[in-house]
Amino acid sequence: MISFLMLLALTLAQPVAPAHWCYESQAKITSCTGPSQWTGNCQDNRQSPINIDTTKTILNSTLIPFQFINYDQKKSLSIINNGHTVEVQLDDTIRISGGGLNETYKAVAFHLHWSNSLDKGSEHTINGKSYAMEMHIVHIKNKYHNVSEALSENGNDEIAVLGFLIKSSPQIHSGFANLVENLRNIPYQTNEVGLKEFSLFDLIPKVDKLKNYYRYWGSLTTPECQEKVIWTVFHEPIHLHSDQILEFSRMLYYNKENESKMPIIDNFRKTQPLGNRQIFTSGAGILLPQAWPTLLAPLLTYLLAVFLD
Ligand SMILES: *[C@@H]1O[C@H](CO)[C@@H](O)[C@H](O)[C@H]1NC(C)=O
Ligand SMILES: *[C@@H]1O[C@H](CO)[C@@H](O)[C@H](O)[C@H]1NC(C)=O
Ligand SMILES: *[C@@H]1O[C@H](CO)[C@@H](O)[C@H](O)[C@H]1NC(C)=O
Ligand SMILES: *[C@@H]1O[C@H](CO)[C@@H](O)[C@H](O)[C@H]1NC(C)=O
Ligand SMILES: [Zn+2]
Repeated sequence: MISFLMLLALTLAQPVAPAHWCYESQAKITSCTGPSQWTGNCQDNRQSPINIDTTKTILNSTLIPFQFINYDQKKSLSIINNGHTVEVQLDDTIRISGGGLNETYKAVAFHLHWSNSLDKGSEHTINGKSYAMEMHIVHIKNKYHNVSEALSENGNDEIAVLGFLIKSSPQIHSGFANLVENLRNIPYQTNEVGLKEFSLFDLIPKVDKLKNYYRYWGSLTTPECQEKVIWTVFHEPIHLHSDQILEFSRMLYYNKENESKMPIIDNFRKTQPLGNRQIFTSGAGILLPQAWPTLLAPLLTYLLAVFLD
């Protein structure tokens, strides 16, 4: 009898098997672990995403332009619905260096975050303003083989994510067209389809517009939210047509085929407290136009003086 009661007590004491993590939009309608219950480092204080208050960013001259290596390499890659987002795994010959990073990082994959409206969907916000979507290109230090190996190390910069805000525009983005058209072929979790040849440069803004970016140290924005990410959020957004943006929430589902349908909407995490962190901004292209008048005026005065002399 006693052993039966002990057994019963033990059984009751067992935590309920944790449901799989999910976004708030899913937690509202199904049983899963929403953001407030995410485990790992998710409740710590150097989390991502954050709001970027541009009046408080600190200009940092070490934040030089990036070198994008093989971002122009055209490849036929496949896109997968992983039940949280759509993801394209990248060839590890694609790399980044410069950009104030201490070493070269290699690309692993990119994915996106969105809503079913154009006024929200991004993870980072700028001065409290959300964008329609956000694209993340995930990189790890060149010496690592995969993300799990990078996450097993203790530094705060094992992973470098490049974040691109996405804004609606009246024009179709031809670089994204094939990807967007194929979303209908991967409605359910684990669905995968091949894309026509494309390069990352077909998707992101022109390199000369990528000199300006924000930099801070944060985390992955999904469990276990490890605080090992050096973040870059570019000032220049990507412009997609509103139909292209809305196709994500219309065509894609969190669930597997033959399970009850839950559209992927609002697969972004809310902004997290900045705490005592600082956000840096690169200066290229900002400093110069402002500096010109102050440099030019004395120069002209001098030349004029010499000339009139
Ligand atoms: C610029 O960033 C570097 C490297 O992260 C840091 O060591 C330095 O203190 C920063 N400088 C300023 C002026 O914030
Ligand atoms: C570069 O390395 C130094 C020394 O380990 C570290 O303090 C700094 O945060 C690193 N900077 C970046 C951008 O990872
Ligand atoms: C990641 O790379 C390490 C080291 O090469 C390897 O042992 C491990 O199995 C890899 N993990 C995955 C998930 O591929
Ligand atoms: C879903 O249901 C259809 C029709 O019953 C079946 O043909 C298909 O194999 C099922 N798919 C999966 C992934 O179970
Ligand atoms: Zn992301």
